[in-house]
Amino acid sequence: MIRQEVLALIARAEAGADLSRDELTCLLSLGGEEQKALFAAADRVRARVMGDGVHLRGLIEFSNICRMDCCYCGIRRSNRHVRRYRMTPEEIVAAAQGAWRLGYGSVVLQSGEGDALDPEELAGVVRQIKATTPLAVTLSVGERTREEYALWREAGADRFLLRHETADPELFARLRPGRRLEQRIQCLLWLRELGYQVGSGFMVGLPGQTVGTLADDILLLKRLNVEMAGIGPFIPAPHTPLADAAPGTVEQTLNAVACVRLSIQDAHVPATTALGSIHPRGRQLALACGANVIMPNVTPGKYREHYQLYPNKICLREEPEQCEPCVAALIVGEGRFVATGPGHSPRWTA
Ligand code: 5AD
Ligand code: FES
Repeated sequence: MIRQEVLALIARAEAGADLSRDELTCLLSLGGEEQKALFAAADRVRARVMGDGVHLRGLIEFSNICRMDCCYCGIRRSNRHVRRYRMTPEEIVAAAQGAWRLGYGSVVLQSGEGDALDPEELAGVVRQIKATTPLAVTLSVGERTREEYALWREAGADRFLLRHETADPELFARLRPGRRLEQRIQCLLWLRELGYQVGSGFMVGLPGQTVGTLADDILLLKRLNVEMAGIGPFIPAPHTPLADAAPGTVEQTLNAVACVRLSIQDAHVPATTALGSIHPRGRQLALACGANVIMPNVTPGKYREHYQLYPNKICLREEPEQCEPCVAALIVGEGRFVATGPGHSPRWTA
């Protein structure tokens, strides 16, 4: 059974209407045939606005050293079971060049929050990648000062990923001791001012989160007018305070992906590794309801197993050369194709 008013709401969303918190809450809660109608609408918007190409971003996890103690995260500072590592600047540049040779158009340099590389060193890495490859470079190194963001932008970094994690300020403060949502939003505003393409996003199924929180998450992304929105399920990690909490569900994550596609129609939306880690076809399912990006891991094999934000992460044993064809086959299997080039935001190339 599909309710007429739900069909009408989906049609308005598809046409690009601004949805209220209550309307988003309604869409986020759909199941059965109504959920299928939501996914079909998100898929049409994705095809119309973003096309059938799926962009690959090669993810280089260059250090798991972190000064933060997020309750959900496997590499939080107080987790003593993690073997800490940092790749050298030379190793990072080599990994990026390797990604370029495999056909990637962009790389994401990600680490825990901390000074695994000092800001100048990281700027040097960005400069070298930009000087020796045509790659778009994305940084994902957490909450930093405006000066650091400016330094890396001047060095040539194109984009920055900083998920807001949850739009509920109290939940945020509880899950990220010593940190406030407001500060994180300030960072996102600085990144925007500095001319980065900005990516943010959130986890689905955090303990204490409600469907209303997810609606707020989407409204916040819309207010920030992000160029990229990453949405993945929360997965409880061993040796963290949330080790015994329930994980986020595939269904709820897909509903959130579809609602983000309808709300910010020209954003890049990844089919996340976390979703692929809780369901064997998680990434394929996301590609069918709004997603248009995949971020294969191109971290050298010997470091991968030490970068586990959550358990049972896929591709831990694969080397970059193995993930690329695997992901390409996955994409073609969904009737899509691997997009070439840097895959900038359509707002940048228009
Ligand atoms: N489960 C799922 N996602 C997680 N992240 C961190 N810890 C977990 C977890 N246990 C996500 C956060 C972070 C991104 C890099 O990974 O949203 O921003
Ligand atoms: Fe890594 Fe499939 S994506 S092996």
